[in-house]
Amino acid sequence: MPNVTVLDHPLLRHKLALLRDKSTPTAMFRQIAREISLLMAYEVTRDLPLEPIEIETPLETMQAEHLAGKKLCIVSILRAGNGILEGMLDLVPSARVGHIGLYRDHATLLPVEYYLKLPNDVSERSVILVDPMLATGNSAVAAASRLKGAGVTTMKFVCLLAAPEGIAAFTAAHPDVPVFTGAIDRELDGNGYIRPGLGDAGDRFYGTR
Ligand code: URA
Repeated sequence: MPNVTVLDHPLLRHKLALLRDKSTPTAMFRQIAREISLLMAYEVTRDLPLEPIEIETPLETMQAEHLAGKKLCIVSILRAGNGILEGMLDLVPSARVGHIGLYRDHATLLPVEYYLKLPNDVSERSVILVDPMLATGNSAVAAASRLKGAGVTTMKFVCLLAAPEGIAAFTAAHPDVPVFTGAIDRELDGNGYIRPGLGDAGDRFYGTR
C-alpha cells in the first residue's frame, strides 16, 4: 500500500499483543501504550533533516549535527489520542501540542467536532497527527482536513491499529499524508470496531467501562 508503513519492530509487536489482551489492566495498558508510542515516534521521526553544527567537546572542536527544518507539532485526536501523546513527548519533549476534539456519532459513525486548539504557528510546523485506532477513518480524515485548513502542509498520521477500511478511506482522502501503524487488522465490524483489535481504546486508557 503506497504511503502506509506497518511498524513491525519485534518490541512493538510484543507490546501490541499485551495491549490487545483483554486481561491487561488499565494502568498497564497506559504504560505499554506510552512505550509503544515512544518507539513509534522514533520511527516516524527517522527522516527529520539535520544540519551541521560546530561544537566543542572537552577535547576539541568537531562538526556535529542537530535537527534542522520545521519544528514539530503533535496533534492528538481526543480523547484516545492523548494516550499516544505522552510517549511521543517523552522522545520529543519540545514539540508543541494541538488537540482536536472529534467524537464519533454512534448512529452515523461520522465525526462531530467539539474542540480545536492548535499552536499559532502550526502552519510552519511538521505535524504528527495521532489517534490510536484508524477504524472507519472518518475522524482521522476530518482532523487532517481541519489541519490542512489551518495551513499545515507537512503531516504524518500515526495509529496503533488500522482497519483496511480506514486505511482505504484515509489514503483516498489524503494521499499526501503518510500513515504509520502498528498493525493492519482483519476488518471493521458492524459497530465500527476493529477486529480483532483491542476494544475501545479510550475506555481501555481511562478505565471508563
Ligand atoms: N475506536 C476504538 O477505540 N476501537 C475500535 O476498535 C474502533 C474505533
